Amino acid sequence: MTGVTARVPAKVNLQLAVGSPRADGFHDLVTVFHAVSLFDQVTVKPAARDAVTVTGEDVGRVPVGQDNLALRAVAALRAAVPDGATGTRGVQVTIAKRIPVAAGLAGGSADAAAALVACNQLWATGLSQQQLCEVGATVGSDVAFALLGGTAVGRGRGEQLTPALVPATQYHWVLAFADGQLATPEVFTALDRLRASRGGRGGKVSPQEQGGRGGDRPPGRTPPGLDASLMSALRAGDARLVGSRLSNDLQPAALSLFPALRKTLAAGLELGALGALVAGSGPTCAFLAASAERALELAVAMSGAGVCRSVARVTGPAPGAAVVSAQT
Ligand code: C5P
Repeated sequence: MTGVTARVPAKVNLQLAVGSPRADGFHDLVTVFHAVSLFDQVTVKPAARDAVTVTGEDVGRVPVGQDNLALRAVAALRAAVPDGATGTRGVQVTIAKRIPVAAGLAGGSADAAAALVACNQLWATGLSQQQLCEVGATVGSDVAFALLGGTAVGRGRGEQLTPALVPATQYHWVLAFADGQLATPEVFTALDRLRASRGGRGGKVSPQEQGGRGGDRPPGRTPPGLDASLMSALRAGDARLVGSRLSNDLQPAALSLFPALRKTLAAGLELGALGALVAGSGPTCAFLAASAERALELAVAMSGAGVCRSVARVTGPAPGAAVVSAQT
C-alpha cells in the first residue's frame, strides 16, 4: 500500500461538567460528546522518517515537530504493535485541515485519531477500534471520541466512552469561529481560579459571568453528574429541549479569557438559536437551530452581525474517524 487517507470529525460537547483537578493535573469530567460534520483529512504514506505537512485552515498554527498530535499517534501505535509489523521506515503525514486550531473543537485529537485509523490500515496492524481508543487515550483526552464519533458520554478525563443510545435525529448547528484562540490548559486553570475566588459565596458563577443560556453547576462536585434532562431530550430527539439543556462548565472561564464571546452568544440567541454555548474550551461558539433552513438563516445573520470571524453550518452526529481511500 502506498498511502491511506482517513476523514475525521470535529466535536462539540452538549454537556461539559468539570470536577476538581486530579493529582495528575487533569480534571474529572462528565461530558456528552457530539461529533459534527466539519472534517479534517489525514493521509499517511511510507517515508524515510516521520514527518508532517499541513494544508488548509490555520496552516502555520499547527506544530509540525514531534509534538504534533498526529505524529505522536503514529509513534504510539508503532510502540503498541509487535516489532517489525510497521516496517522499519517512517511515515509522511499530510493533514488537510478544516477544523480550526485551538478552537475547542478537538481538531488536534481528531488528527491523531485519523492518523491511527490510517496507519492501522497502512501497516495492516489490525487493531480493533477499542484497541485504537486505548492507544489514542495516551495521546489526548478527546482522541478516543474522535475514533468513535456519533454522540457519546465521556467520563474520566474524557477518554472513557459509552455511546449514547439515542435515535438517529439529525441536529443542525451553526459554528461561529472566533478571531483568536484559547489554550485548553489555560481555560481549565481559569475555571479553577474562578471557583476558588467564588468559594466564599457558595461558588456559584453568576448568569452574567456565565453568558448566554449555557448554565453552570456549583463547583467542586466530584464526580460531576450527567444531565438526565439532556439525555432524555436526546432520547426524544427533541432539538428544542436539547437546546434548552446545553451546558458547559468551562464557559465562564472561556468568557473571562475572551469576553467578546459574550456578544457572539447573545447575538445567536437573539437571532433565533434554540441554544448556544462555547464549544469545549472555546473560543468557537455553537448554536443549535430548529432545522436546516433556520440554520442557514442563522448563519447568514451571524455573518452579517460582525460578532465572529466566520461561520460554518454543520450537522451532527457525524461518524468517527474512518478510512476514505487507499492508494496501492
Ligand atoms: O488531553 P489533552 O491534550 O486534550 O488535554 C489538554 C490539556 O487540557 C491538559 O494538559 C489539561 O491541562 C487540560 N485537561 C484537563 N482535564 C481534562 C482534559 C484536559 O485539565 N479532562
